[in-house]
Amino acid sequence: MRAWVQDVYGSAEVMRLAEVPDPVPGAGEVLVRVAAVSVNAADWHLMRGEPRVARLDRTTFGRRAPKQPIRGRDVAGTVLAVGPDVQDWQVGDEVLGEHEGTMAELVAVPATCLARRPTGVGVVEAAALPLAATTAATCLDAGRVGEGTRLLVIGASGGVGTYAVQLAVARGAEVTGVCSTRNLDLVTSLGASAVLDHTRGEVERSSATYDVVLDLVGNRPLRVLRRLVARRGRLVLAGGGNPGEGGYLGPIGLFARGALLGRLMGVRVSVPVAKPDAARLTELVGMVERGGLRPVVERVYPFEEGGAALRHLEVDRARGKVVVAGSAQSE
Ligand SMILES: NC(=O)c1ccc[n+]([C@@H]2O[C@H](COP(=O)([O-])OP(=O)(O)OC[C@H]3O[C@@H](n4cnc5c(N)ncnc54)[C@H](OP(=O)(O)O)[C@@H]3O)[C@@H](O)[C@H]2O)c1
Repeated sequence: MRAWVQDVYGSAEVMRLAEVPDPVPGAGEVLVRVAAVSVNAADWHLMRGEPRVARLDRTTFGRRAPKQPIRGRDVAGTVLAVGPDVQDWQVGDEVLGEHEGTMAELVAVPATCLARRPTGVGVVEAAALPLAATTAATCLDAGRVGEGTRLLVIGASGGVGTYAVQLAVARGAEVTGVCSTRNLDLVTSLGASAVLDHTRGEVERSSATYDVVLDLVGNRPLRVLRRLVARRGRLVLAGGGNPGEGGYLGPIGLFARGALLGRLMGVRVSVPVAKPDAARLTELVGMVERGGLRPVVERVYPFEEGGAALRHLEVDRARGKVVVAGSAQSE
């Protein structure tokens, strides 16, 4: 099969389309023919080996490149074969899910990481969902966001942020989004009742406070974030920083300071880590089917331009999600 692989750490130029052996589904795994993949910040973190401190995790990071050379984590596609001990899936089922190495024509995925794709949800929308929407929901849970919560979402125009705004509004929260000038209308259209333009310093200048501040960027000092949180409020730190910024530690220093100093500062700090969750994904794709959640897909690249999709995310900054779907040859 063909797959987008890397041999060394670096920016999107290190990615190349290569012939690699077809995966064979092991026990508990399902072989999926990939129809669409969305790219995530997780892909450039792995591709660039950033933050550098993450490379100490030798289960994921090798000396010169990630242990899994194929990028991509989100997938929508069709079940082509099932491995031993798989009961819930059959050949021909339409699925979506989250697993490493999806920027390929085929991928073997643990059966427990997959959800059924309803007929009313297309492959592009489905591929845009798993990691970003699951992260958004996990972060809102960490902040106990519900009816009436005054929530600030920093990074509201990105893959996770566009879901976080919509899911919070659906929970009855009053949402303020932070984004750049070009994305103000987008974030308002998702249901935010106010927007702050970070390119004009509106976050730093703001005197408003919020019950929950969800930071999906990770490049602001703790004292700036602290000032935005109301008394007895919550600070949810989930931003991984921007490519090439943040030095050796990236946002890890912020997470550590937040965890240590939060209590002293009178703020409840959490640093959630989202995991693949098929039950949650089933709920989220159901919301999309019923029209209660809209994947914002900025752009769809053909499979042969997968490297350009990663470059767009890394360099240009996506609005919502970027998807790789289908083959240029079949168009
Ligand atoms: N903890 C977890 O489990 C988990 C899971 C997934 C992702 N993440 C992290 O969540 C973050 C968001 O992921 P994503 O996929 O949504 O990334 P993304 O699609 O690349 O979005 C990045 C966002 O950052 C915003 N941004 C960039 N610089 C900014 C600044 N100086 N001030 C305010 N906003 C700024 C961009 O807005 P504009 O373009 O409008 O400026 C955009 O909305 C990443 O850092 C990722 O590492 C964490």
